[in-house]
Amino acid sequence: MDTPCLPSVLFVCLGNICRSPLAEAALRAEAGGAGLDITVDSAGTGNWHAGDPPDRRAQATALRHGSDISGYVARQVTRDDFTRFTHVFALDADNLADLRALAPAEATAELALLLDLLPGRAGEGVVDPYYGDADGFETTWRDVSAAAAAFVASLRKRDARG
Ligand code: 4NP
Repeated sequence: MDTPCLPSVLFVCLGNICRSPLAEAALRAEAGGAGLDITVDSAGTGNWHAGDPPDRRAQATALRHGSDISGYVARQVTRDDFTRFTHVFALDADNLADLRALAPAEATAELALLLDLLPGRAGEGVVDPYYGDADGFETTWRDVSAAAAAFVASLRKRDARG
């Protein structure tokens, strides 16, 4: 099957206030740096934080790495997301299972675990930093920015092949 020229990517974690907003910021930065115009968004499988900005620790981490995510607003993933986006990346295995259960029959998005993008880390989840300390958010940033770089590299390789 042909992959559409312009991918659109949705990152999904549990609350949409820690991991997936950081993944969104990392991919926005990577794609921007590569001059790629792609749509990027994030959502949570849960709705407890819908309408909230990202966790303050996530905001601080993103800012330290050059991205202001204070304007992001959490939302819950919807069935429409499976046709609106070409790629839906789950941050961990629980998120992936929840997404598989929610996906409608007409889903067109490729659904995968985010760290499957990284050699040697397939099957791993991005650890939830919510109940930990600030260091955990740095680890999250490292993981999501490596995955974002791998995703952009795969797009460039695909485009180079034509
Ligand atoms: P996230 O982290 O899924 O990375 O946004 C969490 C945020 C909030 C909660 C759990 C995880 N919570 O239980 O409220």
